[in-house]
Amino acid sequence: MKIDVIGGGPAGLYFAILAKKSFPRFDIRVHERNQADDTFGFGVVFSDATLDNFERSDPESYEAITGRFAYWDDVEIHIHGAVHRIGGNGFCGCSRRTLLLLLQERARALGVELIFRAEIASLDELRASDLIVAADGINSRVREDHKAHFGTAVDLRPNWFSWMGSSRSFDAFTFFFKETEYGIFIAHCYQYEADRSTFVLETDPETFVKAGLDRMDEASSARFMEKVFAEELEGHKLITNRSLWRRFPMIRNARWTMDDRVVLLGDAKATAHFSIGSGTKLAMEDAISLHQALVAEHGDIAEALHRFEPTRREEVEKTQHAADVSLVWFEHVKRFWDMHPLRFSFGLMTRSKSITFDNLELRAPKFIREVERHFASEVRAHGHDVDVERPLPPLFQPLRLREMTLENRVVVSPMCMYSAIDGVPQDFHLVHYGALAMGGAGLIFTEMTCVAPDARITHGCTGLWNDEQEKAFARIVAFTHANSQARICLQLGHAGRKGATKLMWEGMDEPLEHGAWPIVSASPLPYYPQSQFPHAQVPCEMSRADMDRVRDQFVASAERGERAGFDMLELHAAHGYLLASFLSPLANKRKDEYGGSLENRLRFPLEVFTALRAAWPAHKPMSVRVSASDWQEGGLAEHEAIAIGAAFAEAGADLVDVSSGQTTPLARPFYGRMFQTPFSEAIRNEARVATMAVGSITSADQANTILAAGRADLVAFGRPHLADPGFALKAAAWYGAESIFVPKQYQPGKDQLMRNTPREKAELTELRLRAKPKSRAPTFARKHKAAAE
Ligand SMILES: Cc1cc2nc3c(=O)[nH]c(=O)nc-3n(C[C@H](O)[C@H](O)[C@H](O)COP(=O)(O)OP(=O)(O)OC[C@H]3O[C@@H](n4cnc5c(N)ncnc54)[C@H](O)[C@@H]3O)c2cc1C
Ligand SMILES: Cc1cc2nc3c(=O)[nH]c(=O)nc-3n(C[C@H](O)[C@H](O)[C@H](O)COP(=O)(O)O)c2cc1C
Repeated sequence: MKIDVIGGGPAGLYFAILAKKSFPRFDIRVHERNQADDTFGFGVVFSDATLDNFERSDPESYEAITGRFAYWDDVEIHIHGAVHRIGGNGFCGCSRRTLLLLLQERARALGVELIFRAEIASLDELRASDLIVAADGINSRVREDHKAHFGTAVDLRPNWFSWMGSSRSFDAFTFFFKETEYGIFIAHCYQYEADRSTFVLETDPETFVKAGLDRMDEASSARFMEKVFAEELEGHKLITNRSLWRRFPMIRNARWTMDDRVVLLGDAKATAHFSIGSGTKLAMEDAISLHQALVAEHGDIAEALHRFEPTRREEVEKTQHAADVSLVWFEHVKRFWDMHPLRFSFGLMTRSKSITFDNLELRAPKFIREVERHFASEVRAHGHDVDVERPLPPLFQPLRLREMTLENRVVVSPMCMYSAIDGVPQDFHLVHYGALAMGGAGLIFTEMTCVAPDARITHGCTGLWNDEQEKAFARIVAFTHANSQARICLQLGHAGRKGATKLMWEGMDEPLEHGAWPIVSASPLPYYPQSQFPHAQVPCEMSRADMDRVRDQFVASAERGERAGFDMLELHAAHGYLLASFLSPLANKRKDEYGGSLENRLRFPLEVFTALRAAWPAHKPMSVRVSASDWQEGGLAEHEAIAIGAAFAEAGADLVDVSSGQTTPLARPFYGRMFQTPFSEAIRNEARVATMAVGSITSADQANTILAAGRADLVAFGRPHLADPGFALKAAAWYGAESIFVPKQYQPGKDQLMRNTPREKAELTELRLRAKPKSRAPTFARKHKAAAE
């Protein structure tokens, strides 16, 4: 069996080692265009978890490389003169050159043939090969020559970066953030051997040009950066080695294999931004995975390739996603620039979702105490009498909007129950909202309540256009106020082109076959095309008279809401209903002053909001729910979502409730934990308005992470509350928030929960600590001591 590996980087060499070890009779050759010791780059980093993986895969190379590594446990963040150090991260760094030399040595010892200064120009040169491993790096020729087959997508990111080194030593993975007259510069630094550290420099496109870096050569750019980071370099110089400034390409391939004999590996296949230090890790773990597939298929190449891609893809995409989220954070660093250094640092640590509040509590309890204290002190500065010395976590800190005070920041998201009769809430609703209120959330939303019979989504939607409905809602509000400390917000909406549809369990958003009422929208475009549902109505384009009527219906319902005793009012302008269809360029094709520019598309939704704000008591808060993205090409852009948030804030919104999607059936959301939270973060920190995050937020830990990082001010949970109305109470017990209110009838249940939860938490913490990858700190200390002696 002949295997040819193109590229002697970490991916190619490590695969060759593992394959030769398991299949000594295979003839394995590595072709590398450079010389053996001719390598660019400075240090590489690996986490404890990655090292565990290497140890299992090849103890010999693991022993060799860990003997040459620098190890550290802390991340240090320098911003605005403050320094925050966060422990428990377990990383090690090694020189890329040393790593490659050690891998070459191990490969040779096993009998792999290494051919240097051998550039493979085409796959034709390797016709005799049974397997070709294209580990030829980020600019892979194999991939480029066959990009239609591999389905290559390259997203060239805007920020500029350059990989340099220095002789300054570091005892932590260190981030420097520096403001200059040109703009902000970032340095990602870590030591990889005695007196050698990596210094990756990064800046945004405007700063890059303003500073003149686009016109400097390698040496002058290093001298320039030495001046920017003079204080941080402490007299040391920057070292260059092909340290050109470039923009990071996010590379993805729809297929990784070709003709059952070619496979892409490492950077050739998928890149991960350097800010999560995973390029070399991904490359070597790819090698492990391909080797495992080969072993599992007893050396059958075609079968191994069939096995490799499906087993490896999810892990690679997860790492890429984390890297993408991370790189976007660095691209938007200006957004966080005014934050307190503690919040800034917490946001940086938790940017890619894998590190959370609870997670940091285990690794760096002192830092989390500081974060909590800072959060509580801000709450106190807003006039709340909260304990700053022994504070509760952010989720259990109060929030005031106008004169409404919320006991905590757990919110029950609005959720249609499709169980009203003629718009009138039933016993079901009283029990449903009653249970949720008694469950301890600070704020509960009603489902989308419609302003007129023809404004309903379905026959089962609640409405607020007559006395009977008003009375039923007044009963729910009175129950909530009498039996809980939850505040209750009325969400008012108009279904627009998603009106006259079936109940959720009969066909979500599908048009009614019988009994449909006429529907209106911004433009005469049905939500579902008639090719899909022949009976789908084409909505009538709203005239000015229609707008007047609908605006007045909203106001009349709000007045009923006020009489029913609601504490807060939300205007539903999301999810493809009437007002969302004005905002979205995909649904609004009007040629008049209500279509076209964002200013025009905002005109009618803002008019309704302004009329509501005038009718709704000034001391009571109002919010607006928006879909911040259509998740479709040509849909709402991020800067528009921010402008929408700002416009509603200007019109008197106290909170923007940030959802996304459901505006067109062609939307392709990128679902995942907290997947809508980045929109909330953008709107909150750019439009400077309080926001509520929602969407696949399933734990109090995630919510604390969101709040502490300043990604939102409130966190809404929808489906989690349908499974557990006592969600907030349980979360309170987890964090020892004993002050959470329960009705007196439920006190014994709360007492038991508060007693048992700390014990369960301690047991779980113990398990988590035991499951943590083992720290190499003692091993490194021992090896370094031995080396020194
Ligand atoms: C300028 C730069 C500096 C970097 N520095 C670091 C760093 O300090 N630390 C770090 O962790 N990561 C660094 N990275 C990222 C890191 O290089 C990759 O994520 C990682 O090395 C990927 O491993 P790989 O084996 O897939 O590719 P590579 O390491 O890129 O290896 C590919 C190899 O294939 C060879 N090759 C390419 N084409 C051919 C051909 N046709 N024939 C024969 N040989 C060929 C190349 O010479 C190269 O040696 C750097 C990246 C760049 C662009
Ligand atoms: C059954 C159901 C009904 C919903 N009805 C509404 C609604 O009336 N108004 C609204 O703004 N969002 C509605 N939503 C969206 C939720 O408020 C929330 O944004 C969404 O479920 C994502 O949050 P989650 O992951 O916590 O469930 C509904 C969601 C569900 C599951």
